[in-house]
Order: sequence, then C-alpha cells, then structure tokens
Amino acid sequence: MPATVHVRELTADDLDAAWELGRFAFGSTSERPASTTVVVPGMTRYGAFDDAGRLVGKAVELHHEQWWSGRAVPAADVAGVAVAPEARGRGVARAMLTALLRGARERGAAVSALYPTVAAPYRALGWETAGVLRTVDLATAALPRHRPAAHLTVRAGTPVDLPAVAALYEGVTRHRNGMLTRRGELFDHFTADGDLPGDGLTLVEDGGDLVAYATWQRGRGYGADSVLTVDEALAVTAEAARALVGVLGSWASVAPTLRLCPLDGDVVSTVLPLESARDHERDLWMHRPVDVVRAVAARGWPAHARGTVDFTLTDPLAEWNTGTWRLAVADGAAELTRIGDEADLRLDVRGFALLYAGAARARSVAQAGLLHGADPDALDLLGAGGVAQLLDYF
Ligand SMILES: CC(C)(COP(=O)(O)OP(=O)(O)OC[C@H]1O[C@@H](n2cnc3c(N)ncnc32)[C@H](O)[C@@H]1OP(=O)(O)O)[C@@H](O)C(=O)NCCC(=O)NCCS
Repeated sequence: MPATVHVRELTADDLDAAWELGRFAFGSTSERPASTTVVVPGMTRYGAFDDAGRLVGKAVELHHEQWWSGRAVPAADVAGVAVAPEARGRGVARAMLTALLRGARERGAAVSALYPTVAAPYRALGWETAGVLRTVDLATAALPRHRPAAHLTVRAGTPVDLPAVAALYEGVTRHRNGMLTRRGELFDHFTADGDLPGDGLTLVEDGGDLVAYATWQRGRGYGADSVLTVDEALAVTAEAARALVGVLGSWASVAPTLRLCPLDGDVVSTVLPLESARDHERDLWMHRPVDVVRAVAARGWPAHARGTVDFTLTDPLAEWNTGTWRLAVADGAAELTRIGDEADLRLDVRGFALLYAGAARARSVAQAGLLHGADPDALDLLGAGGVAQLLDYF
C-alpha cells in the first residue's frame, strides 16, 4: 500500500476529477449525467488522494434500504469504485472501502451489496457473491395471449399512477430479502421530476385498484431485431399477471424479442414461457454485513425459525464485527449478543454473508473453508431467512 493515501469524502470541487476517473475506468462514451456534477442527497462519495493531492481513487456509498422479510434494513450499497491505472494494486481500493464501511456504520447501515466487475478485490474485503440479476430475452410470440378477465381494466398509465405503482412494488417485494425499498432521499432526488421511468407504463386494474404493471422502453424499428425492453413487470394476482403478459405478447408483430428481468417465484414468472428464455446479461452481486448486530436485529425472520447458536466471527476490515456471538432466533425476530470465550464454530465474514443472504447452506460454507467446527449445520439458523434477490442495478 502506498505510504500515503488519504481518504476523505469528496466535495463539489472534486466532482470533475471523480467523473474523469470513472469515465476512464468504465469507458463511458455518453454525455456526462447531471447527477455527477452536483452533490446528491442520499449518497456519500469517497475519494483517495496521493501526497500531491491528486485524486487516485473513488467509491460511492448509496444510502439504500433493503427489504429483509418484511422489515426495511439500512444499507450501504457500493457503486462506482475506480482507481487510477497507475495506482492500482497498491491498496487504494482497500483503504477507500475500509473508510466507507466505517462511515456507513456510523451512519447506521447494517448491510451492503454491490455489483462487481471483478469479484476478487471485494472478496479480499469481506463481500461474497450472493446472487445474479438476470436479464433474459424471450420470443414475444411465445407469450400466452390471454384476454383480460372481464372484471379487469387495462390502460396506459401516467405520472399520476406512480404512487400506486410504488405501492404494488412494495406489496411484491417487502416480504422478500435483499430487494431495495426504493425509498429515501436518493430515490426522491432521481424521481423528483415526476416523469414516467421509461417510454410507457401499462396498468391492469381491478375495480380501480392496481393489480399489475409493466414499465417498458420501445426500442427502435419493427424488424426481426427489434426489442421491447420491459424494465419491470409485476403483479399481485394470477389473473392480473395473465392480462399483463397478454398485453406484452401483443407486441410480437413489431418487437419479436421481449427483454426483461424475471423475479424468481413471483406471479408474473408463473405465466411467462421461461423455458425458452435466453440469457441476455448476467450481473453478479455480492453482499456483506456492515454491522452484524444491526443486520440480525433489523431484519425480519420467519416465524417458524427458532433456536440459538454460538460462533466466533472474524472480520478483519470491520473489526467491530469480530468476536464471539450468540445468535438467538424466535418469534420472527433475532438478536446477536457478545459472549465470552471462543466458540467451537469459527466463521469468516464471507461465510456470514453467504448464510445471511441465503446463498449457501452451512455445510457448503464449511466446505469452502469459511466455517470451521464440529457441527457446522447448526449455523443454518443464520440462513433461516431464505434466499435474497435484487431487481435494481446500481
Ligand atoms: C478493481 C479496482 C477498483 C481495485 O483497486 P486497487 O486499488 O487496485 O485494489 P487494492 O490494491 O486495494 O486491492 C484490494 C485487494 O483486492 C485484490 N485485487 C485487486 N485487484 C484485483 C484483481 N483485478 N484481481 C484479483 N484481485 C485483485 C488485491 O490483491 C487486494 O487483496 P489483498 O489486500 O488481500 O492483497 C481497480 O483495479 C480498478 O479501478 N479497476 C478498473 C475499474 C473497476 O474494475 N472497478 C471495479 C468496479 S466494481
């Protein structure tokens, strides 16, 4: 690590240099987004500076919340990590993410997610792969063409409908794990104009209540390579999902390909012909606890999960997580309490991440060398909340 790398929050004066660094790292060709020129509420931008005061690294902490079994958990999601080519491999990212985690904890964050372009540096810093955001292509003509049931109304939405869309999104996601709540200053900032998120919004209503929606972008042309990109298609009843998918299928003659991100196990997925889906893009995401005590206490737990288990956790980057803990789960809630001696079960923070996010069973975590002890299965209690999934890219 260079003897002197100074990490601090970026100010408005640093934003031009930060944009240049990100532009080089990610090869941005498009126009500079307005949000990169101003201080944005709900995000903390970190920068690493060399001795001469030159910016050599940047990382952004997004003040998100994630749903974990019915409860909104404060998150420090990470984006835009970039280090100047000449400064790479010398601990700049490590220094920035160490500061970011400390700041996130002081701010009250409990968990963190990020989409890596390369997983290894984040693994070295305690994040572990927990899921994949899949974008798939379907033959539009393969979608079942149901007519809406007589009691359902299908219509185009307007900005006035966006609160109902947000409420339906919450109804679909809040009992899940890992999904963003899309609440808070950051989301308010980017939705302040009140515009529709894409080209179009299709709504299905039942007696005036929203029961399904799709937001979509039309794309170009009407030939064989024309694609309708559905940013989101969610429903809360099977009839509504069939009606919505019927409308999407009606694009077949002018947009032979339908592109969307299916949400595993939701109502729309039970209607789509997913057997013919081809992966268009796969975005791996990683998870990490920021503060294990909060991460356990702030989330919801299944009512049927019950028990206690002691374990010793190692987290070199966030030393406040290191120590011997007792996890007690009962009645839909859980807590971690510090206890004295080293426990028989010894868990690495990456193993904690895998279990908490439901990405692996304890036996697999042990096989990966991230959990040691005579009875690893006992730590399946930490994974009792089930699998996490993300629908937002950041
Ligand atoms: C990826 C990137 C941010 C890493 O920054 P860095 O300052 O070079 O990383 P560090 O030197 O702090 O390394 C941190 C750890 O990750 C490891 N690491 C870093 N880059 C790695 C790579 N490309 N492959 C494997 N391991 C890597 C280091 O060995 C180190 O582990 P250690 O401390 O246990 O030895 C930097 O290379 C970069 O800007 N790349 C281009 C843009 C990019 O890919 N950004 C990531 C977006 S998610």
